Amino acid sequence: MLPRKLRFLANTHVPCPCRKRVVTPWPGGVVARAPGGQRARWDADPVPRRARTFSLASVRTLGHDRHRPTGRDGEDANGSGGAGARAPEGHNGNRKPDGGRLVHSAHQSCVICVGNQKGGVGKTTTCVQLAAAFAERGSLCLIIDLDMTAGATKLLRAPTQGWNDSFDLVTGTESAFDVVIDNEDPEITLPKNLHLVPGSARLRDLDHYLFTHEWIVHQDMLLAPLAQLRERYDYIFLDTPPQSTKTTVPALKAADFVILSAMPDRLAIEALHDALRQIQTAKAGPHPDLALLGVLIHAIPSPKTRLARGLLQALSGLPDIAPGTPVKFATDIVRTVVLQEAMQAGKTIFDYAPDHSAAKQYAALADEVQQRIAMHASRARTESAAVRANA
Ligand SMILES: Nc1ncnc2c1ncn2[C@@H]1O[C@H](COP(=O)(O)OP(=O)(O)OP(=O)(O)O)[C@@H](O)[C@H]1O
Ligand SMILES: [Mg+2]
Repeated sequence: MLPRKLRFLANTHVPCPCRKRVVTPWPGGVVARAPGGQRARWDADPVPRRARTFSLASVRTLGHDRHRPTGRDGEDANGSGGAGARAPEGHNGNRKPDGGRLVHSAHQSCVICVGNQKGGVGKTTTCVQLAAAFAERGSLCLIIDLDMTAGATKLLRAPTQGWNDSFDLVTGTESAFDVVIDNEDPEITLPKNLHLVPGSARLRDLDHYLFTHEWIVHQDMLLAPLAQLRERYDYIFLDTPPQSTKTTVPALKAADFVILSAMPDRLAIEALHDALRQIQTAKAGPHPDLALLGVLIHAIPSPKTRLARGLLQALSGLPDIAPGTPVKFATDIVRTVVLQEAMQAGKTIFDYAPDHSAAKQYAALADEVQQRIAMHASRARTESAAVRANA
């Protein structure tokens, strides 16, 4: 709440240089307000939403200059270390125009959806630690928290209220770049090179929103915002909720790749079959390019119990994703309390215990993910060359 004698300042709006926001001069920084129409919605929110406070530096990086050649923390903008230079080897991002898919050509990024309809199987942990592994290597990563329980947001100690969040992203009520938070925002502490679109309980209202906006195509909701965000990021991770909720299908439609997360538990392994069926359905219809990167098994007891060995054995019955490439990643993540301690401290494993075996496993997983992405890209190139030759 503003002190009474300063309240008149709240109405003294000055247009933001980019004209996307209306800003109010305020001691210690600049208070940003969403453009006119949005204010009414903010005011109507049951939870009063705090206007974003940001420095002029963050105005520059919050999408107002999103066409700059690089978006990486601490790098120059001459394009030498630009995002394109960091795209995974062999991954050719330029997509062919097809159906409802949006074309992006400038900078190639990978959108990876982490899923499994079963709850508590390590989806959020995978998203955060894998993104952190890539961020450690200098790739600019974004996590979009599409879960109304906001697990990734809480894990990274980011705010779940008062800021624009993934509800604004999927509904398009805010510009894609205005929902991203990063280290340059005061009060936000995120690892270097790791940005976040926070999740929030407002995602519960998505059903109602879709009901009252009948022209919005549910499964396409994330295509347009992600087409914008792809320009800036090397890797975008979509953390999906358990069960197939209203954000799961748009996430699958907008993703290039899926990683399925599971634990050595009968129900988690069985839920994989549902998830695989969902991917097959997407590939057969709305999203033929969707590719499964693999199944990651979390929290494997060390040494492996007989039960864990038996359940892992069951995975060998699943078809390979490519000749010689089993569906299960070669890297397993062991069960360790250090991951939970890191979570408790609001840090990634790379910040909390960089020498721990779990950090090494996530780094190995990042290598494997990169190799599998390159493999998919080279297969896609071969297939399209064959199609051209036959034409
Ligand atoms: N390798 C591991 N060792 C120990 N604990 C782990 C490991 N991986 C994940 N966990 C723990 O398992 C729990 C569930 O993990 P996580 O929240 O990532 O699952 P989730 O699939 O995202 O859950 P939800 O479906 O509820 O969103 C967390 O408490 C996490 O700390
Ligand atoms: Mg989760």
